[in-house]
Amino acid sequence: MSNVIVIGTQWGDEGKGKIVDWLSEKADLVVRFQGGHNAGHTLVIDGNVFKLSLLPSGIVRDNTVALIGNGVVIDPFHLIKEIKQLEEKNIKISSENLIISDAAFLILPIHQLVDEVREKNNGSKKIGTTGRGIGPSYEDKVGRRGLRICDFLNKEYFESKLKKLYDFHNIWLTAMNEPKQNYNEVIKEIWSIGQKIIPFTKPSWEIIYNYKNRLSNILFEGAQGTFLDIDHGTYPFVTSSNTVSSQAGIGSGVGPTSMDYTLGITKAYTTRVGSGPFPSEDSGENGIKLGENGHEFGTVTGRKRRCGWFDAILVKQAVALSSIDGIAFTKLDVLDGFKEIKICVGYTLDEKNIDYLPTSTLEQEKVKPVYEIMKGWEGSIAGVQSIDLLPNEAKDYIKKIETLINCKIIMISTSPERVDTIYLENPFEFV
Ligand code: GDP
Ligand code: IMO
Ligand code: MG
Repeated sequence: MSNVIVIGTQWGDEGKGKIVDWLSEKADLVVRFQGGHNAGHTLVIDGNVFKLSLLPSGIVRDNTVALIGNGVVIDPFHLIKEIKQLEEKNIKISSENLIISDAAFLILPIHQLVDEVREKNNGSKKIGTTGRGIGPSYEDKVGRRGLRICDFLNKEYFESKLKKLYDFHNIWLTAMNEPKQNYNEVIKEIWSIGQKIIPFTKPSWEIIYNYKNRLSNILFEGAQGTFLDIDHGTYPFVTSSNTVSSQAGIGSGVGPTSMDYTLGITKAYTTRVGSGPFPSEDSGENGIKLGENGHEFGTVTGRKRRCGWFDAILVKQAVALSSIDGIAFTKLDVLDGFKEIKICVGYTLDEKNIDYLPTSTLEQEKVKPVYEIMKGWEGSIAGVQSIDLLPNEAKDYIKKIETLINCKIIMISTSPERVDTIYLENPFEFV
């Protein structure tokens, strides 16, 4: 048996989708356990591009069942749209290969509105959310007034909860001089879309328990990245869920002792979408070149991603926070053509050297990177599928990073395509 958690170690968009897709060849079940359609996971298979936001990446494989766990927040309209988009690409989706936890919380139209109004009113202090209602939905969950997928089973109950939720949000919207929202105008549409989802629903803990007892291989697919974690990230410039490995169990209904391996996905440089501290950001020509080489535009919002050098302090911290066993190192080809490659190996804070990202927002904004410079390589490594074909400078870069982050790199990705992946070690013991 091998149950593997895959998570991002930076600020998201590390290439989780590609690696989960690669690993799902051997997986029986692929589980999303947090986030929602703020995620954008790209898979490229023989030139066909799939962009998944809510559906687990395993959905494109015939051999794999996809499960959306209780920790995910689900916009029912988006879910049905994404299913349709995949069906148009000849992916078959039914209750046989897609299971949705009945305990997952809903993102409703009012959540998206609250997200937008809040961002608008925050002006230059905005978080730069994806505007998809993620934060407000999770707030209602912990506020114990949220609606869940299982509420679609009883119309009267659903309607009374929806009314209460709209009453709650209308108080704030009115205070912000926004028009009051009428739940009567949306209930019919929400209810009817909910009925389309009901056939897919089951308690996710039971499904996982059964798979586990059959000694199946389960992949837990994280969304976002470690420094967008609500507890461990660059708060308040974070998403509203936990993105570290421990969330895999909570967000799907299984205990930590059932997890065999945590794989961190790490980009060979650093990017971030939205506001917030980014010590190794390069706003000059190198940052522009990284963005151009790496096509760094958000999968969900199309926004330009901020780019900078690899930050070993951050990734070392991510390795500790999620007890990461090994790293899949992605987008190494994007460093083609750089004569010199910088690595952030430490920070200074008020002229003192530190080797961790401080917790305080004010301190995070103040830290300055300390760089080491490595020699770049000649030519292109795009599409390379064997370690022997990598130039020595690329191998040195990988070795240096392993030492700095105190973790092994077990896979290397050299292009968006599924097959352009190098295994250095295969520790998963997939049966
Ligand atoms: P995710 O959110 O972590 O799944 O990552 P995204 O899909 O949002 O962003 C990663 C982008 O990089 C996508 O466009 C991928 O197709 C692409 N990508 C993934 N791995 C590689 C790689 O090794 N090299 C290059 N050049 N692109 C890659
Ligand atoms: P994947 O899974 C990169 C960022 C947003 C914003 C912050 C809060 O593709 O790696 P939210 O809408 O979640 O309230 O926005 O989090 N963000 C992501 N950045 N990749 C993602 O997902 C992200 N999901 C959210 O840009 O800064
Ligand atoms: Mg993404």
